[in-house]
Amino acid sequence: MRRATLDDLGAIMRLERASFPTDAWSDAMMREELGSPHGWYVVDEVAGRLLGYAGLRAVHNAKDADIQTITIAEESRGRGRGRALLRELLHEAARRHVTDVFLEVRADNPVAQRLYLSEGFAEIGRKPRYYQPDDVDALVMRLDLRGWHASTASAAGGADAVPGAAGRAQAWDGGVCS
Ligand SMILES: CC(C)(COP(=O)(O)OP(=O)(O)OC[C@H]1O[C@@H](n2cnc3c(N)ncnc32)[C@H](O)[C@@H]1OP(=O)(O)O)[C@@H](O)C(=O)NCCC(=O)NCCS
Repeated sequence: MRRATLDDLGAIMRLERASFPTDAWSDAMMREELGSPHGWYVVDEVAGRLLGYAGLRAVHNAKDADIQTITIAEESRGRGRGRALLRELLHEAARRHVTDVFLEVRADNPVAQRLYLSEGFAEIGRKPRYYQPDDVDALVMRLDLRGWHASTASAAGGADAVPGAAGRAQAWDGGVCS
């Protein structure tokens, strides 16, 4: 796993279009995300092949951050890679002293919801018919990052300390993962 660069744009967009056939971001949107000082994108690459990517948006000095997107290539799903990407983003949010992480997820995406619930995210609201053209609701989820970090650190026997730390869809209001 490594931090994404603009050189990854082509491979990321191929996976983006395969993963989100009805609401893929445009090249321009993804380029802006990858280049943003507020962003933190990581790629899961094996032998030069992109198997997944994920992105966080955490504005400098803000206490909130958003999971912008996360995807694993279809043939590589179900082996822990999605969770590893998500945790990488959460660790970066902790390094940035974020306290709350938000995301939006499609109501018809139980696999992603189960991943988020199992990491400690809780549903805090719903945006009716948020994903168009599919007409699907968004669930809004929130994670108490300090609680998450404390529990991962204790699960790792304290060895998991963070250095320096004590949908997608049509909108850009953060956490728009589908
Ligand atoms: C959601 C996604 C990123 C998960 O990645 P993954 O590598 O397949 O998931 P992992 O193997 O890390 O599994 C993490 C958890 O997800 C859930 N999960 C994974 N596959 C599942 C399945 N087939 N059915 C139900 N839950 C599943 C489980 O809770 C699992 O935890 P467990 O293994 O302890 O039971 C991946 O399925 C994906 O890319 N989906 C398409 C794009 C997408 O929907 N992105 C999310 C946008 S919000």
